[in-house]
Amino acid sequence: MKTIIEPFKIKSVEPIRMTTRAEREAILARAGYNLFLVRAEDVLIDLLTDSGTSSMSSEQWAAMMRGDESYAGARSFFRFEEEVQRLTGFKHIIPTHQGRAAEKILFSVLHRPGGVYLGNTHFDTTRANIEYLDDTAIDLPIPEGVIPAKIHPFKGNIDLARLASELARLGERVRGVVMTVTNNSGGGQPVSMENLREASRLAHAHGTLLILDSCRFAENAYFIKLREPGYAQKSVVEIAREMYGHADATTMSAKKDGLANIGGFLACQADEIAAQARNLLILTEGFPTYGGLAGRDLEAIAQGLREVVEEDYLRYRLRSVEYFCEKLQAVGVPMILPAGGHAVFLDAGAFLSYVPPAQFPGQALANELYLEGGIRAVEIGSVMFGKEDARTGKATHPPMELVRLAIPRRVYTQSHVDYAAEVIVAVYHRRDTVRGVKIVHQAPFLRHFTARFEPLPAAGG
Ligand code: F0G
Repeated sequence: MKTIIEPFKIKSVEPIRMTTRAEREAILARAGYNLFLVRAEDVLIDLLTDSGTSSMSSEQWAAMMRGDESYAGARSFFRFEEEVQRLTGFKHIIPTHQGRAAEKILFSVLHRPGGVYLGNTHFDTTRANIEYLDDTAIDLPIPEGVIPAKIHPFKGNIDLARLASELARLGERVRGVVMTVTNNSGGGQPVSMENLREASRLAHAHGTLLILDSCRFAENAYFIKLREPGYAQKSVVEIAREMYGHADATTMSAKKDGLANIGGFLACQADEIAAQARNLLILTEGFPTYGGLAGRDLEAIAQGLREVVEEDYLRYRLRSVEYFCEKLQAVGVPMILPAGGHAVFLDAGAFLSYVPPAQFPGQALANELYLEGGIRAVEIGSVMFGKEDARTGKATHPPMELVRLAIPRRVYTQSHVDYAAEVIVAVYHRRDTVRGVKIVHQAPFLRHFTARFEPLPAAGG
């Protein structure tokens, strides 16, 4: 059969609520034109993130009832540890309450004054945790990776020539090479095994670590199976193991490909890193056999990691994102192509071509999608990554102004996607009416979460 269906049936439902345009205008104004500050029940279809928003399976709920809530040495920890070890091959498995906690701990252990990390594209929390320690994160995506409409099978790859020259230039200051799979900020695009292998070889030849930010490892592994020569016959677990085999450590948010609503882990091979990490863990997360999680959460993750590598699931998962993309592509909506693993990324810079980066076209577009149809998306552009240059005081902008519509796992059906596409197309047809925004309040770190905005007066174009 040609039709790829949702490989599950629905056992429990949660109503969603339609609002009127006038209601949404008032809600958005109250929220300072920042969708992070809108209440979830005022959103019809929530595509803000695929993180922590998965539907759990009946097997995961059943596993949660088996959660062992002992403080130390809980049965649930050993089930979790075994599952993560089976998948990653790492010796030390350290649970954390979510991905960024693993990042904070790992980068604190690796920190040295003047430290630098090189990566395909650091995610915002990864970058923030590195910069909080006064270390530096440098993104080295391949040139194709920052041209939205450019088709390339592995747009998430790191630029190996630049990686080699940066390693040589920075010498011992480099504390690690961070490969994010899939490359979230670059469009949910996969990294090839060949690229990972070479990045690992360069890192190791330089005497530094290869760190895998593996939140979406299963989606990346399935892209490798579909697109990279030599992998069609391998299982997703075999591919994942090979990916992890090129790394010295991994940070993982189980809120994505763990199919869980909370949780994460740090895993590594080196005893010394693990020992220091566990000391920090006890300070902020908890004892090493629960790391900020309940026993039932560890059970949900262990079961989720078994389900996420099933090929029926991954086939449906990647197809649902591709289907969304195709609907928009058919009317010429500018976006990142080909479709990524977890989200559709609109090219807001091209969509609202007359709104300059300084007027945050991504924020303006995300707000407009909410006003039009109650959809919540997220800006990934100058609000999230823009900065003021410390020396010149001038605003700097990232290479792309994007709006991400992330698809929660196993939550929405095809008609929800059809509706979301209709909303985007409607806004596209009246795109010349959309105004830019200005920031009226912002925090020093991760400003996109709490910033408040005001719409600018109508543009001339
Ligand atoms: N790394 C990547 C690539 C991520 O996408 C995220 C989270 C993290 C690390 C941090 O994990 O949220 O569990 O602390 N991404 C979410 C998103 C927030 O919406 O893409 P966390």
